[in-house]
Amino acid sequence: MATPVKVRLEADKTHYFCTCRKSADGVLCDGSHKGTTYRPQPFTVDTTKEYSLCACKKSENLPFCDGTHRKL
Ligand code: FES
Repeated sequence: MATPVKVRLEADKTHYFCTCRKSADGVLCDGSHKGTTYRPQPFTVDTTKEYSLCACKKSENLPFCDGTHRKL
């Protein structure tokens, strides 16, 4: 079971959510998708703080965890 990863994100900056599952931390793009058809999903946050990002990729509120991993 892939559990959420806590990451401190800065407001007003574009972050890139990993959709390929190959990034080192499982949630933020590190370029590991190169050579695949996957592309990172850009997103921003309104407040600088720690967020729980979805590592199971099944959340209905991607890139944020909504607890779906507990049902898998
Ligand atoms: S490393 Fe996974 S989308 Fe970029």
